[in-house]
Amino acid sequence: MKEQLAVSKIKEGTVIDHITAGKALLVLKILKIHPGSRERVLMAMNVPSRKMGKKDIVKVEGKFIGEEELNKISLIAPKATINLIRNYDIYKKFKVSLPERIDGVLFCPNRNCITNSNEPITRKFHVKMVGSSVEVRCHYCGRKIKEVDKYVIS
Ligand code: CTP
Ligand code: ZN
Repeated sequence: MKEQLAVSKIKEGTVIDHITAGKALLVLKILKIHPGSRERVLMAMNVPSRKMGKKDIVKVEGKFIGEEELNKISLIAPKATINLIRNYDIYKKFKVSLPERIDGVLFCPNRNCITNSNEPITRKFHVKMVGSSVEVRCHYCGRKIKEVDKYVIS
């Protein structure tokens, strides 16, 4: 039996499905959707999913998201599926994939790290999957982060 549709279908744009439950708001932040944004956004949190138990969904009408945004989303929702929609049809479906390195997205929790000084340095982290969670390591000071979503730059 088909799962019940949590939010209605969209005509054109991007559906980010199978987001780790509870992370939809962070996905919106990554997409720079905030109070005052003009996009039509549909969102569901903690809806039942056969594959994941619970999941979040974000649908953005009229927006086709780029590779950089996808890389960022993969950090906090490594199982996310991207569906690109045109005229109500899915013309492309794929899973996000974790980049090896992520630049300018996370900040380092180490106060003494050079990226937290006044030096004009781009923050860089090396990314790997440990079991089913994402772990990153600061390129400059080596600090490891397991709770990646706490360190997303707003
Ligand atoms: N979707 C949408 N608008 C459309 C078409 C699809 O919002 N015009 C959404 C669906 O609601 C669903 C996602 O895009 O959240 C993927 O759709 P579909 O492939 O039909 O569903 P499933 O088979 O359940 O997807 P998957 O195989 O990825 O689990
Ligand atoms: Zn650091």
